[in-house]
Amino acid sequence: MIGGAAILVTGGTGLIGRHLLPVLADAGADVFAVVRPGREPLVEANARPLVWDLAEASPVSRLPSRLDGVVHLAAPRNRWAARGASLASHIRISVDAAARVFDAAQSRGVSKAVYVSTIAVAGPHDGRSTRPVAVPSHPYAMTKRWGEELAIALRGRLRGVTIVRPGPVYGPGQSPFGLLARFAARLKRREPIAIAAPHGRLVSPVFVGDVVDVIVASLAQPTNVTMSIGGPRAYRELQLVEDLAEWLALPARIRVDTGERPSRFDIDNGDADRLFPRRQRTSWPEGLRLTWRRH
Ligand SMILES: NC(=O)c1ccc[n+]([C@@H]2O[C@H](COP(=O)([O-])OP(=O)(O)OC[C@H]3O[C@@H](n4cnc5c(N)ncnc54)[C@H](OP(=O)(O)O)[C@@H]3O)[C@@H](O)[C@H]2O)c1
Repeated sequence: MIGGAAILVTGGTGLIGRHLLPVLADAGADVFAVVRPGREPLVEANARPLVWDLAEASPVSRLPSRLDGVVHLAAPRNRWAARGASLASHIRISVDAAARVFDAAQSRGVSKAVYVSTIAVAGPHDGRSTRPVAVPSHPYAMTKRWGEELAIALRGRLRGVTIVRPGPVYGPGQSPFGLLARFAARLKRREPIAIAAPHGRLVSPVFVGDVVDVIVASLAQPTNVTMSIGGPRAYRELQLVEDLAEWLALPARIRVDTGERPSRFDIDNGDADRLFPRRQRTSWPEGLRLTWRRH
């Protein structure tokens, strides 16, 4: 049950968080959103902001004395940046902060936790098995995996710790750093988009509302499970760029990169479908229309 539950959410000012807070509040939860100093006005009246720069050891605000659930979403914003992606800065947010948030939550009686990881931790696969064909070595992917280890360590002490690994998430309010947002921005600037020959990577973009739905369902039905979540279908990047270009009525300029091998990050939604058969599934064409306005 979520009604009446005190839920702590980190990353509440981010894409998923901004969509999650009102849904939790509408379900009757008492929602507390961890925000960096100065970010309190971004939290709407349906949640109470708690000031905590997660790069710092302790919160500025006093955390509630009792909590029922925690959703840990916070992550570096420009996480895929080639420059400035120092392992130490990722460790600070994705590992160290995760440990402190889980500790704070556990000492306040939390019985259920959701840790939002990423499909990048699983690495690309070859389609024959889900085993990665390359070990993820980017600081973001590595540290999110270490964050998963912390979440797994909580299992056994809580009623349920769900790890959710989304594919590229998109939706209204997305940051400029997401895969689809970057494609759209380059189209608008009439800049070429580089994709691996011949059609780019195979990915499963997922609409933000579908991820929120799974997080809320995981809080309502706590389970120790790690599940991936993508959209209903996988697409090659070339198709996504062409669909975006058509919808935005912009020319698509593609630069095919023959030096890079196209990898597969498509997602098997089997676990999410089994656990939550009635979950929200937004198709890419529908999500595209809900996310980007036509001019
Ligand atoms: N979006 C995707 O495509 C995607 C795909 C797979 C997995 N995920 C995972 O999903 C989670 C949420 O992603 P998102 O895209 O919704 O997030 P986002 O839009 O990138 O926002 C990141 C959130 O983390 C907060 N944050 C960053 N550093 C912080 C700090 N030092 N102290 C407190 N808060 C801090 C940000 O606060 P500010 O507003 O103050 O910056 C913001 O609320 C992340 O863990 C990410 O790894 C996302």
